[in-house]
Amino acid sequence: MTPTRTITARKEALGTKLCILAHHYQADDVVRHADILGDSLELAQRIDGLDAEHIVFCGVHFMAETAAILARTGQKVHIPDENASCVMADMVPAALAEKVLTALNRDGAHIIPLTYVNSSAAVKAVCGRHGGSVCTSANAKTMMSWALGQGDGVLFMPDANLGRNTARALGIDPARTMRLDIRGQGRFVPAADPSASIYLWPGLCAVHALFHTEHVSAIRRDEPGALVLVHPECSPEVVAMADGAGSTSYLIKAVAEAPAGSTIYVGTEWNLVNRLALRHTDRTVRPLRTALCSNMAKITEENLARTLTALDTAEPVRVDDDIAQPARIALQRMLDACR
Ligand code: 13P
Ligand code: SF4
Repeated sequence: MTPTRTITARKEALGTKLCILAHHYQADDVVRHADILGDSLELAQRIDGLDAEHIVFCGVHFMAETAAILARTGQKVHIPDENASCVMADMVPAALAEKVLTALNRDGAHIIPLTYVNSSAAVKAVCGRHGGSVCTSANAKTMMSWALGQGDGVLFMPDANLGRNTARALGIDPARTMRLDIRGQGRFVPAADPSASIYLWPGLCAVHALFHTEHVSAIRRDEPGALVLVHPECSPEVVAMADGAGSTSYLIKAVAEAPAGSTIYVGTEWNLVNRLALRHTDRTVRPLRTALCSNMAKITEENLARTLTALDTAEPVRVDDDIAQPARIALQRMLDACR
């Protein structure tokens, strides 16, 4: 049987016992089997209302882990390839996050840890234990404002670009943001300084780092009427040159709302841009340059079919309770702040 037919047959056999979630960066072959397609905020928000016993998450590992933390007792979350990690999430080890936070707070300051959802459950647990929370690119402004209201400053992890772009969007003076030097197990991290309010972990997304100011300059020169829209994981320099910057859901909406006949360059993962181009045939949608997330691409129709075939015996995504509990507190603070 082909993977397509296996998936269709398993979906029919399992009915409401199964729900397949997919992130917008998944390939079309996978997306067409999804019951729910969304960005990372939308997918996290949907977990609460799901009745299915088996949740199969087509995305990267931190997303499946987040679903496992938010799922009810007895629900099982599966990911078709356990090795689909996120390069950015891997840039913040939880033990180092804890050390850096302790170093910032050593003179009695109360710095609030705020992690981008692109991080491990253990990092979310650090945030939960220290009065912090989680954000996605769709609610980063809301959550950064929230965190600023809880203490003397914010340790923003792991995406320095999203942190800087969000601080700028909130009107925070760039002089009040400080990029941390985390080398030597955090040995060079200073105690919190009253002149700073945002401390940036020096992580980035290797996919969005592929978009450079030269790409935008070339469009401005050759196609001055074209719109340029980018994800806030791009550098602040690229964001400053773009006509708009926002989360995956923002980009989808902005392309849909652009005038028919217009040309729109989108600086984000290629699968999403390609889908938007196919959906909006009355306008020209192009990638700012081709940028594929190789980890998102690890989920295929083949391993989705294998996962669905072995659902009853497969080991689901597990998060130990001592991590899941504080990580859930951090996530719940986000969900409550963004209802
Ligand atoms: P969204 O939060 O926009 O879904 O993005 C997730 C992601 O991994 C972007 O690289
Ligand atoms: Fe992680 Fe970047 Fe891939 Fe998103 S696009 S999952 S941030 S590596």
